[in-house]
Amino acid sequence: MSKSPLITLNSGFTMPQLGLGVYKVGQDIAVNLVSLALEIGYRRIDTAALYDNEFEVGAAIRKSKIDREEIFVTTKIWNDRHGYENAAEAIQESVDRLNVGYVDMMLIHWPCPKQDKYVETWRALEDALSTGKVRSIGVSNFLPHHLEKLLATATVTPAIDQVEMHPQLANVELRAFNKAHGIATEAWAPLGRARFLDNPVLGEIAARQGKSPAQVVIRWHLQLGNLVIPKSSKPQRLEENFDVFGFALTEEDMAEIAALNTETRIATHPDDMN
Ligand SMILES: NC(=O)c1ccc[n+]([C@@H]2O[C@H](COP(=O)([O-])OP(=O)(O)OC[C@H]3O[C@@H](n4cnc5c(N)ncnc54)[C@H](OP(=O)(O)O)[C@@H]3O)[C@@H](O)[C@H]2O)c1
Repeated sequence: MSKSPLITLNSGFTMPQLGLGVYKVGQDIAVNLVSLALEIGYRRIDTAALYDNEFEVGAAIRKSKIDREEIFVTTKIWNDRHGYENAAEAIQESVDRLNVGYVDMMLIHWPCPKQDKYVETWRALEDALSTGKVRSIGVSNFLPHHLEKLLATATVTPAIDQVEMHPQLANVELRAFNKAHGIATEAWAPLGRARFLDNPVLGEIAARQGKSPAQVVIRWHLQLGNLVIPKSSKPQRLEENFDVFGFALTEEDMAEIAALNTETRIATHPDDMN
């Protein structure tokens, strides 16, 4: 069985570089899908309070009988739970719903700058570390100006920043900022929600490599050093998306994909999300 490489975080814990995202995976299929992913070799699952499937993700992890230490589970505090007390309660609720002893990574889902409470939310996450319920903490959808404000008072630097990232939004400056601060960058919508997998450049590289366009894009993320969490609710695609460790993109392939970058989002800009 293939295994994902591990990335060492600034928290000292390791995290598989490739995992499964379960946004829009319904409760009716979530246990079976996560169980299958664990059989294939996935050891990282990315959920969130918003996704309404934390309970099912936890159930699949418990059912698997895989050593808990081998599995890495991430969840997130939703936008209506900002502020210290609110966030502290939301953290406990997610820990209880997952029911797998501890959460490996808890993120602030969006900075919601108009609410202007993410600094207090972060304090609740820092305090959760000392309870042992949460092992590493991080952020999602934070841009450098959000991180600068957070870092001005933080006692713990976020371990990761999970952001929209795909060949059309390579986040060149954000990745450099994160790297300079010891923050690992994680790609959500890593396949661009499959909206441009039919791009001819990706098609040509895929044909040269004998792989699918999705595998080429996942490989591009891995070679850039990104953490990456493609989602699929189809068993065959779960296998396809994990079968990316037996080949490498050339420098030319990487340059051709880099040239597709237009820094264009498919989802909401972080400053506009409330
Ligand atoms: N932090 C945040 O704000 C945030 C926001 C969005 C997502 N996320 C996380 O990131 C994860 C991934 O992002 P995402 O789900 O938005 O987008 P994505 O992974 O880029 O794309 C998922 C889409 O691609 C399709 N797909 C998957 N594998 C494929 C393949 N091999 N070939 C062709 N199509 C394929 C899926 O369809 P099928 O399911 O039909 O296969 C689905 O429609 C989420 O599940 C979630 O965990 C985080």
